[in-house]
Amino acid sequence: KKIEWDVNAAEKGGYEHFMLKEMYEQPKAVSDTFSPRIKNGEIVIEELNMSEEDIKKIRKITIVACGSAYHTGVTAKYVFEGMARIPVEVDVASEFRYRNPILEEDTLVIVISQSGETADTLAALREAQKRGAKVLGIVNVVGSSIAREADSVMHTWAGPEIAVATTKAYSAQLIALYLLATKFAGVRGQITGDEQKEILDDIQRLPVQIERLLENKKNIQKFANRYLAADQVFFIGRGIDYGISMEGSLKLKEISYIHSEAYAAGELKHGTISLIEEGTLVVSVSTQKDLYKKMISNMEEVRTRGAFVMAVSVEGNLEVEKAADYVLYIPKTNKYLMNSLAIIPLQLFGYYIAVGKGADVDKPRNLAKSVTVE
Ligand code: G6P
Repeated sequence: KKIEWDVNAAEKGGYEHFMLKEMYEQPKAVSDTFSPRIKNGEIVIEELNMSEEDIKKIRKITIVACGSAYHTGVTAKYVFEGMARIPVEVDVASEFRYRNPILEEDTLVIVISQSGETADTLAALREAQKRGAKVLGIVNVVGSSIAREADSVMHTWAGPEIAVATTKAYSAQLIALYLLATKFAGVRGQITGDEQKEILDDIQRLPVQIERLLENKKNIQKFANRYLAADQVFFIGRGIDYGISMEGSLKLKEISYIHSEAYAAGELKHGTISLIEEGTLVVSVSTQKDLYKKMISNMEEVRTRGAFVMAVSVEGNLEVEKAADYVLYIPKTNKYLMNSLAIIPLQLFGYYIAVGKGADVDKPRNLAKSVTVE
């Protein structure tokens, strides 16, 4: 009897692509990243090397990264500012390094990188250090250049990521940032012990919720198959949902080659709305309760101009159904954690469009997993 042994398939553990396999590894990546850092209801990040006094002294956080890691920074800005009340600036590394950045003594610089080898991010880290700032790296690859050169390193424990389009490392980065923001908020007296406990409970529930969202892949595939011929897609959101939209849009365009843009929902009317035609797909992300109403009017705005609206919103927001043509619900969690859930259907959507188009999902043209040249 001849045994067929396909090494490639074996590496993918039975999944059609590394990207799909890695999306399914997200519950574990998330839980491996928070588990070692939650001890008896407290957030313990020893590798941070900062005393409570140091944390209280921070006056500004500067987050620098590229690509999807930059998108986690955009979300983190809303989380740090909203929860810990620390001003945050976020920049792409290639801009930061050449703009003569203002870093004061009490600025904490955070660089985020899956590979730890991205040339622009590494250069930004060196630039920040040259200017006297302490740099915290959030890095997936142990022993990488950024991990070695940063003043302190908080590892994401996502394991090796093969697909060019990141999924599990991105999800793990979000967790590291939530833990930091919650820790800082607690130390600085911006949230009570009870509030901190609730957030930690919600963080610990994320893996199961992500698993549930992944189960919906068949429906998302069916929906995605209707849009294989789309030539442009818009993603809109406000606040954290804007950060989610940026990543949802990147996931779609980088692997499916469909042009897509993420827009702050309120900004659409200042130009981009002229691109909306009969049948244009608009993906609306709306997870922030205090912004539901505003998002509904933005959805109506594009729908009157012929757009087909797919909404990602939270269970219980029934209002959204009046303004959308298709709704994907995510379960409830703390408002600051919504990104971790809302990104799952968007990753699946981008993935299935690319699969439907027969694209090389794991190795999109012109892209590299890690860009080590400027
Ligand atoms: C490349 C990849 C992106 C990634 C970015 C930053 O462009 O294609 O998926 O987000 O680099 O990579 P890093 O390893 O620094 O997170």
